Amino acid sequence: MFKHLVSINDLSKETIEKIFKLADHYRLQLEKKTSINKCKDKIMATLFYEPSTRTRMSFESAMFRLGGKVISSADTKVTSAAAKGESLVDTIKVIQSYADIIVLRHFKDGAAMLAAENSDVPIINGGDGAHEHPTQTLCDLYTIKKLKKRKIEGMYVALCGDLRYGRTVHSLAYGLAKFGARIFTIAPEGFELPEYVEHRIKSEYGIEIKKYKKIDEQLSQADVFYMTQKTELELLPRLSIEFFDAVYVTRIQMERIKGVKTIFKHTIPYLINKELLNKAKGDTIVMHPLPRRNELSYDIDQDKRAAYFKQAAYGIPIRMALIALLLGTTKSKIKIDQKQPELFSLGKKCSNENCITNAEENVQRRYTKANGLLNTYRCFYCDQEQEIESNEIN
Ligand code: NCD
Repeated sequence: MFKHLVSINDLSKETIEKIFKLADHYRLQLEKKTSINKCKDKIMATLFYEPSTRTRMSFESAMFRLGGKVISSADTKVTSAAAKGESLVDTIKVIQSYADIIVLRHFKDGAAMLAAENSDVPIINGGDGAHEHPTQTLCDLYTIKKLKKRKIEGMYVALCGDLRYGRTVHSLAYGLAKFGARIFTIAPEGFELPEYVEHRIKSEYGIEIKKYKKIDEQLSQADVFYMTQKTELELLPRLSIEFFDAVYVTRIQMERIKGVKTIFKHTIPYLINKELLNKAKGDTIVMHPLPRRNELSYDIDQDKRAAYFKQAAYGIPIRMALIALLLGTTKSKIKIDQKQPELFSLGKKCSNENCITNAEENVQRRYTKANGLLNTYRCFYCDQEQEIESNEIN
């Protein structure tokens, strides 16, 4: 039976390793220019309600490389029936009979889960609002493994930038936690990793995230003590780029922040430039999901530690592997651990304004119990937490 890829949490470590193994195989075949006819009679639909360069084109290129065909709606909000007010659920119910697999990008948090529930063909989440972007995480983890040539477990990884509205870092934080990395977040005030992501990482993976505001920061005594205890480093007077094995930078997601036109135009507390990179280790890699704005300076592009264009290039073999595995056209098979938790219905609206359940009519609002937190429930679609008294549950 097919399954969807909605969240990186749907994939176990073993399944991710399987995807990587098949991606390695396709990468070699692509280098040798061997034709790969694994999806000859299959059609993929790319349904994108938000702008995209890498995700949509790499998915389409991957499907063509597999010998399959593609139908595409690139600016769905404007060019499809969505412009006439069609719901996402109706659109999915129509497209599932036009294609064997659907890649969806949507501006609402939780849209991918709603689409998956209403689709008879696999849905791949190509980014849903500020929620998740699991296939970017597959490219990111694969890049780290390929470039560092060692286990991700125990690596020091810094996630910098807009960690609140950036969906890539939510999926990546879960992915890194799954592989046992040490996660440091560096975000300006107001852009920190959402609590629901942090809670989940702690309750499901037992990882405590260490939080900072600047990449080069004077540490307080409490932080120094905490780090030496937990990470066995020398006593640290400052947090510095030299501690990290990988630094992952993201842009401020201006399109998700209402009424704000310019932020950090002149000073970015996590700007990566040549001067800063000179202080890093010889094998620290600098990553970015792209597109970049001013948080990553162009003067480091030639540095062998700049990994962002490799991340984008790995999108082809990774997405080829994922498509073939989801369509079941390979010998190797994967198991997707789609969440099937106990669901509670509730009349109450999801407190996340951007949740798909607040945009679509006829969606039953459902919640799951958040691990280890009293009276706290998580929206089944967007994952955001809300406190709910037991008498409010139906
Ligand atoms: C990202 C996205 O769309 O979330 N881009 C991508 O898919 N590589 C990152 C971003 O837009 O900042």
